[in-house]
This record gives sequence, C-alpha cells and structure tokens, in this order.
Amino acid sequence: MKLRTPLALVALFALILCSACGPATTRTLANKQKMDFGVAIKAGDIFDPVRSKIIIDNFNLIVPEDSMKWANIRPKKDFWNWSDMDAMVAFAQKNKMKIKGHTFLWHDQNAPYVGSLKTREEAIALLEDHITTIVTRYKGRVSEWDVANEVFLEDGSLRNSIWYRLIGDDFLDVAFHAARKADPKAKLILCDYNTEYAGSAKGDASYEMVKGLKERGVPIDGVAFQLHVMAELPLDEEAIRENIKRFAALGLSVSFSEVDVRVRMPLDESKEAEQNAVYEKLAKIARTEPTAKSMILWGFTDKGSWIPRSFAGFGSAHIFDTKLEKKTGYDAVMKGLSGK
Ligand code: G3I
Repeated sequence: MKLRTPLALVALFALILCSACGPATTRTLANKQKMDFGVAIKAGDIFDPVRSKIIIDNFNLIVPEDSMKWANIRPKKDFWNWSDMDAMVAFAQKNKMKIKGHTFLWHDQNAPYVGSLKTREEAIALLEDHITTIVTRYKGRVSEWDVANEVFLEDGSLRNSIWYRLIGDDFLDVAFHAARKADPKAKLILCDYNTEYAGSAKGDASYEMVKGLKERGVPIDGVAFQLHVMAELPLDEEAIRENIKRFAALGLSVSFSEVDVRVRMPLDESKEAEQNAVYEKLAKIARTEPTAKSMILWGFTDKGSWIPRSFAGFGSAHIFDTKLEKKTGYDAVMKGLSGK
C-alpha cells in the first residue's frame, strides 16, 4: 500500500488503534468506571455460543444462579457435584471476569440431610465443613461469597431457618469466621432482599445485625441488596443512598446483587419507560456511590426467566428479550453506567 498524504497516515493509525476497541458495551463502561457489572448464570449458558458471547461481551462478573446451592453442589453428605461450578470458575478465569459464590447459609435449596440435623454441634460441624471445603477449593479464584442469604423476615426478626434454630444467635459468626479462615482475601457478604431502605423494619434490622457483627469482630466485608423490584414502584433513591452511607460508615461496601425489574404484563411503552428509569437509576447509584460500585443482574434474558414462575402476571424483567436481543433496558443501563 502506498501512502501519499499525511491524512492517509492518520487514518491508518486510527485504524490500527481502533482494531482493539469495539463499540461500547455495559462491560466496557463498567470497566471504565472501575465497577463490577455482573450477571447470574446457569452452567448451561457457558456452553451455548450465543449466550456465552452475550455474557462475555457485557459483564465482568458472573454468579452461579443455582449451581452452588447446597442441594445442587452437595446432594449427599459425601457426594460433591463440582462439575458446574468448576466449569464456571474456569470460564470466568478464561474471560478475565470475577466470579462470586452464592450461597452457603440459606433456608432454601438445602439437601434433605441438612433438614435432619438435630443439635448445635452437628449444625456447626456441617456448616463449617461445607464452607471450608468449597472456599478452599476455589481459594484465590472466587473473589467474593454470599456467605449468608435471606436471614431476615419482613418485620426484621430472624427467619427460623435450620441454621438459626439449631446454632442460635451466633449462627452468622460461625459462617463468616469459617469463610475467612479458608480464604483470608475473599470478600464476605451478607445478602438479602427488601433491605435496601434505611427506615424499613428489615433494612434497619440488617444494619443493626451487621453493626453487631462488626463490633464483635466477625469478618464481614459487604452487604448485598438483592433488588428484585417492580417497575411500577418508583425507587426512593435518597433512602438507598442513605443506607449505603451508613454501611460505609461501618467500613462495609454495598452491592446491588440480584437486580431484575419485573413488569405487570402485558408490556406497553409507558411500563417499559418506568422499567428503564429503574434500571438507569440503579446503575447510576451503583456508579456514583464510592462504596457501591457493584451491580449484578439476576439473569440477562426473559427466555427461561424465573420471574413468571414466581410472580404470576409479571414478566419482561430483564434487559435482553426472549430472542436474546437487547431491549431498551440495555440502553438505560448504559446511560446509568456512563452518566450520559
Ligand atoms: O433443575 C430442575 C429441573 O431438572 C426440573 O425439571 C425443574 C422442574 O421445576 O426444576 C429445575 O430446578 C429449578 C431450578 O431453579 C433451576 O431452574 C428449581 O425447581 C427451582 O426451584 C430453582 O429456582 C431457583 C430459586 O432461586 C430457588 O433456588 C431460581 O432458578 C433462582 O433464580 C432463584 O434465585 C434466588 C436466589 O438464589 C436468592 N434470592 C432470590 C432469588 C430468586 O428466587
């Protein structure tokens, strides 16, 4: 090729430089903002070329939606089903993503033998063994863990799970200490839904619990607000920010960890606009609160979504449609992540 003018040289340089830079995506924007922008996935997603490309292009963190739940990863006390989790960890490493583990101490999706535990000693031994085995296997590769999930009821009291019932008031202490011991560098998180508002019974109970944990030296690094929300209910941005700030004052980060925004079907333009406003606002809050910087979607596509199964009459909660095409919600998240 013969380059005759300086203009042609400039064009060539631009071409070389831009061969490495494709169009902006939610992932590139999140990277620019030094934010985690993640998604919960099924193990099968990483073997599907279309789905895996969407995940790689758009997210810098993944969470196993179901694969790590007790009944799935350890259906029998002495049988571990590592294959899905191993594959996801390898996928994350190969594609330079973080991976978060979800979850150990939970009232749901436990294997039957967990329900047969009888004493505090038995419960502590099994919980510690479970956490130690998993965290040790993925030490240095899984960067954060939802150590405990959904321990509160709506009125702020503690849920009567097998773990709380048998172990008692220090049940969270046991779980967090075991996780820290197995991987001192991993980030340890307490996760729940409807805890995002300062001033709500559950939001305040979660704060008081975490404050107590910190005061007695329990190794907790962050809280996660799940944020499975309804498009028709506007978010109270100030109450969320206030809550993030009071956790920051305790030295904890906050993640929006299971975001989906469900719509009362059928969908129409105004409902879609409401939904987009929620997605944009959450991304904006996560970007602009220095101790948040983490937003994880609970699935990316309406195809096979958990929403219609669990909330009759609702759907269209995600940012890709049932054909795996981007929806306008995708652009709303882009706006929230970029501020433009
Ligand atoms: O894998 C079986 C399949 O073999 C069977 O044919 C089918 C029949 O229903 O069930 C399949 O398992 C389902 C599994 O999802 C996989 O899709 C379970 O029944 C179903 O209970 C399970 O639901 C999951 C739910 O947690 C309970 O573990 C959802 O996918 C998952 O999105 C949801 O995630 C939770 C978070 O962990 C915690 N926060 C709330 C969130 C939503 O409920």
